[in-house]
Amino acid sequence: MNVVVIGSGYVGLVAGACFAHSGNQVTCVDIDVRKVERLRKGELPIYEPGLDRLVLDNLAAGRLSFTTDGSLAIAAADAVFIAVGTPPQEDGSADLSHVLAVATETARHVQGFTVVVLKSTVPIGTCDKVATILRERAEVRQGVHTIVVSNPEFLKEGAALDDFFHPDRVVIGTGSERARAVMAELYAPFVRDRDQLLFMDIRSAELTKYAANAMLATRISFMNEIANLCDDVGANVDEVRRGIGSDARIGAHFLFAGIGYGGSCFPKDVKALMNTGRDAGHAMEILSAVESVNDQQKALLARRVMARFGEDLTGKTIALLGLAFKPDTDDMREAPSLTLVRKLLRAGATVVGYDPVAQHTARAELGTKVRYANTWQDAVAAADAILLVTEWAQFRALAAAELASATPCRVVFDGRNIWDARALRAAGFEYHGVGRR
Ligand code: UDX
Repeated sequence: MNVVVIGSGYVGLVAGACFAHSGNQVTCVDIDVRKVERLRKGELPIYEPGLDRLVLDNLAAGRLSFTTDGSLAIAAADAVFIAVGTPPQEDGSADLSHVLAVATETARHVQGFTVVVLKSTVPIGTCDKVATILRERAEVRQGVHTIVVSNPEFLKEGAALDDFFHPDRVVIGTGSERARAVMAELYAPFVRDRDQLLFMDIRSAELTKYAANAMLATRISFMNEIANLCDDVGANVDEVRRGIGSDARIGAHFLFAGIGYGGSCFPKDVKALMNTGRDAGHAMEILSAVESVNDQQKALLARRVMARFGEDLTGKTIALLGLAFKPDTDDMREAPSLTLVRKLLRAGATVVGYDPVAQHTARAELGTKVRYANTWQDAVAAADAILLVTEWAQFRALAAAELASATPCRVVFDGRNIWDARALRAAGFEYHGVGRR
């Protein structure tokens, strides 16, 4: 099939490369000239494991191309995927200007029967808006017939290719049999059986995306609250997690306490869903609590450091291991490290950060007030306290003796509960976890 993907961010690039890999002719369109030039050479603007190889292979095979001008490709397309950003506005609602501009551009060029698929995370009712644009601007031309489909993405950064190639489910919102057939054909190579394709009405598909992320965010805030209670009453959140996760109704996934969720999706989607609720006359009370627990959790380690060393951290050097919002990505959007660093700097601390991949993105966010170490050893060498912020594999694998030999510092705050508290204590460290007192 001829596929156009508009927007070459995380979602668009992954979808474009994967659809090309399954044999389609894919054109990725982006307005950023420099980005397109780089992508044509196989240089990726983001870090996502395996994606560079996939892009290079499909460029070489002639199935994938990049352009700033999508007019010809859109005219020849069977399916046009809209995967541009929907950043949050001041009030937390999603900014739809990019989506609607792309819909207008698509309407100018589309020919024949074309399925227009919304992959961007959009508020309920956006597909209808796009359909109106296409009806008014494209369907007036002879022979043009478009169907708008909602097809939200559920990709995890750092594991996006695996999620695309082996999805738990593919949600497809459409009432059209013809569009259904196109979508089923496109996704057939990625699903083990057709039951994984969940067809539903458009609005339910749009809401499913938000409900999934809001539910996951709720689990995290719930477990963070339980972890904080564990600290107060002398229980261990690892044991509580095992105890509840073995209940099949609860399940073991996504129950890890830590320093809060970040990233491009959860914070934004929780806010957007609260906005949708407000507009519809429903205060989403659970989500307000989820958000406020998360805001406090992001500052947890700063509070703990100040409880340990005093409110004034002047003269103290605090080392952060990991800066990205989670491992295997260079994404700093809404990363807990941002809140943490700002609070530590405000208290007068000297902050040294090390991240295996996110140094450059962190620098763009945090500027020069932080010293960026080139190795974890360099980061901890002169520290008064070590804060484990992102659970990169290399930090997980760090032995207590190895850490002890790299620094005279003996105070660690493990924000992700990945270290063996007993081994660290045996090596002379004062260990602070989250809910592991
Ligand atoms: C998420 C969703 O998983 C994905 O389906 C959606 O399409 C986009 O948003 P992503 O933002 O890449 O993906 O990250 P994810 O791995 O889900 O983690 C989100 C945040 O939750 C991270 O900050 C992570 O550290 C935190 N988290 C996750 C926890 O604190 N505890 C957990 O048990 C799991």
